[in-house]
Amino acid sequence: MPLVNTREMFKKAYEGGYAIGAFNVNNMEIVQGITEACQELKAPLILQVSAGARKYANHTYLTKLVEAAVIENPDIPIALHLDHGSSFEICKDCVDGGFTSVMYDGSSKPYEENVEEARRVVEYAHKYNVTVEAELGKLAGVEDDVNVADDKAQFTDPDEVKDFVTRTGVDSLAIAIGTSHGAYKFKPGQKPQLRFDILKEVSDRLPGFPIVLHGASSVIPQFVEEINKYGGQMPDAIGIPEEMLREAAKMAVCKINVDSDLRLAMTASIRKYLAENPSHFDPRQYLAPARTAIKDMVAHKITAVLGCAGKA
Ligand code: G3H
Ligand code: 13P
Ligand code: ZN
Repeated sequence: MPLVNTREMFKKAYEGGYAIGAFNVNNMEIVQGITEACQELKAPLILQVSAGARKYANHTYLTKLVEAAVIENPDIPIALHLDHGSSFEICKDCVDGGFTSVMYDGSSKPYEENVEEARRVVEYAHKYNVTVEAELGKLAGVEDDVNVADDKAQFTDPDEVKDFVTRTGVDSLAIAIGTSHGAYKFKPGQKPQLRFDILKEVSDRLPGFPIVLHGASSVIPQFVEEINKYGGQMPDAIGIPEEMLREAAKMAVCKINVDSDLRLAMTASIRKYLAENPSHFDPRQYLAPARTAIKDMVAHKITAVLGCAGKA
């Protein structure tokens, strides 16, 4: 099946009480590991590309890799999504360049500016049947070169969501309820918490409307331990507990963004391999197990967190 937008996926996910995994892709092994897991488990999938990924791997290489994945995995719906588009221009570029979904991220801009720019993106994207995600509230953590300090983070205000969605026409809304980007989401000793009350209030005001969670890696402790065991230094890396993400997926959350867990799976595997095989220097030798580590991690997410196995 050709690339799809997120409309139908989200409708089914909302009604079925599960979420779709949106995984960030940066190279071939990452694309392959993710898609193989989804194909085997018959899980719908969003492959997302950040501005940083486009800078690193180039738009054409990434879209061609995703096109190859579509051919190799014909049984599952796959959407190609722009992650954190910071302007109308980058969103337009991705619509023109074959993406089926884009995020306009105006969350750091004043409200009216966010509304105006998101509306412009929707107006353009919908002409090409491309779906649009936008964001209200501010997540803490690191994206690209932007680092939002904890004290600058801001929960989504439920009083704004109806007005925002109505005026912009967006197809889904990312909200801030305590998740954050990167591998350090909570301080050691701090009890991980998400504001489910805000999620509930938002969904009460937007019945049937798909909500998105960014910064939703669980920072799987096994990978952190392995990284630290084999020479890495990631003390105190802490993620969102899986049961909280599962709970959110049963509610209005239809898209759960995962990048850090992919990075951790890959890094842990490569560190271990090279530590155990110091004389090896063929990248295929360490990238093959890294790809398998990604596949196994994604398969675990699909069953333990997203609940989307068999929903393709
Ligand atoms: O939201 C951030 C994603 O993890 C993408 O990260 O901008 O370093 O590619 P990146
Ligand atoms: P994580 O850093 O928790 O994986 O979040 C990724 C993300 O939100 C991409 O947009
Ligand atoms: Zn994000």
